[in-house]
Amino acid sequence: MGDKRVLLIVGGGVAAYKALLLTRLLRKAGIGVRPILTKAGAEFVTPLSLAALAEDKVYQDLFSLTDEHEMGHIELSRSADLVVVAPATADLIAKAANGLAGDLASTTLLATDKPVLMAPAMNVRMWLHPATQRNIATLKADGVSFVGPDEGVMACGEFGPGRLAEPEEIFAAIIARLEDRPARPQDRPLVGKRALVTAGPTFEPIDPVRGITNRSSGKQGFAIAEALAKLGAEVTLVAGPVALPTPVGVERVDVETARQMLAASQAALPADVGVFVAAVADWRVDETFGTKLKKEKGGPPALTFVENPDILATVSATGPRRPKLVIGFAAETDHVEDHARAKLARKGCDWIIANDVTEPGVMGGGENAVLLITKDGTERWDRAAKDEVAAQIAHRIAQALA
Ligand code: CTP
Repeated sequence: MGDKRVLLIVGGGVAAYKALLLTRLLRKAGIGVRPILTKAGAEFVTPLSLAALAEDKVYQDLFSLTDEHEMGHIELSRSADLVVVAPATADLIAKAANGLAGDLASTTLLATDKPVLMAPAMNVRMWLHPATQRNIATLKADGVSFVGPDEGVMACGEFGPGRLAEPEEIFAAIIARLEDRPARPQDRPLVGKRALVTAGPTFEPIDPVRGITNRSSGKQGFAIAEALAKLGAEVTLVAGPVALPTPVGVERVDVETARQMLAASQAALPADVGVFVAAVADWRVDETFGTKLKKEKGGPPALTFVENPDILATVSATGPRRPKLVIGFAAETDHVEDHARAKLARKGCDWIIANDVTEPGVMGGGENAVLLITKDGTERWDRAAKDEVAAQIAHRIAQALA
């Protein structure tokens, strides 16, 4: 990495201090950092601290005679292997998406012929605003890649997606991007394909404060949605109640109950592939109580259960609107392959990805050991992190839809 150089555009925001930490990580790894500090950015970090950590001059002004004398803005925009924007504010993102060039940062983004990586940071409402999401989609289509934003408590006191990714996370994304050349069409084989993914548990209410749910973390489903989007698919992720950030470029629909999940899944059709990862509650109580059940009122309540709709089986049987490839998951505790193969037939799907949930770290954890069961046979995949499993599944889907 010794000969690599990053042009780091630092936008305004409380999180701008993380750009200093990022600069230090990059310099420690021997990567050159040439900083551009926006006017808003300079309200949060000083040019002096940025210059000291970068060990380079900080460029701030489009019309500065000295800056232009030393290095013109066109040359500046091409003087690095990668352009990184951190924090990428809603304003910088909007300017870049629309090709505006009124200041040094936006001019550089418009003039560069180098790959661009953005780390967004903004208030949760600004992030979720359709205008920002539209701009992100435009930039993605232009080949810009993103890291974060993360979800959490924000400086403004609100909670949700919008926090700048941690410096280590941005650093890792930079390294990956520096090693990897910009995405070529063959790296995005799912462009033009639509995918539906269900993820997480469902929550079936009993009374206003209680309900039936399970321990599914949603991680595997979210990772699959992200992996499909990375390969270029247009992804709708129907998510049960989980506190996970929405993967970039994925359209997320939040639901609670199995019936809501079914309706949202049907609304997401037509799709080329459906991946049903959600751990749907098999039963719900036939009648929910409008007020909180009280202990004193005659002992434990007698609850009657009714079966929930089977989303996978219903979508598998939707006739002409059925996705070409329907994939179910099977969480099993015993006779994994036999039960999963029976499920393949019962649910009318094309593949079942089976996992043994008695293995430590699978349910709610970060890893998965899976069997891929198709009509033609069974493959046993090595145990791997959930995002690696997701990448492998996404590649297999791309092959199958090619
Ligand atoms: N599934 C679904 N809707 C349901 C139940 C399950 O879409 N109401 C889907 C899951 O998303 C998964 C697959 O069906 O892709 C298998 O889920 P699993 O819970 O293993 O199967 P069940 O049908 O519940 O079978 P069993 O509980 O008997 O193992």
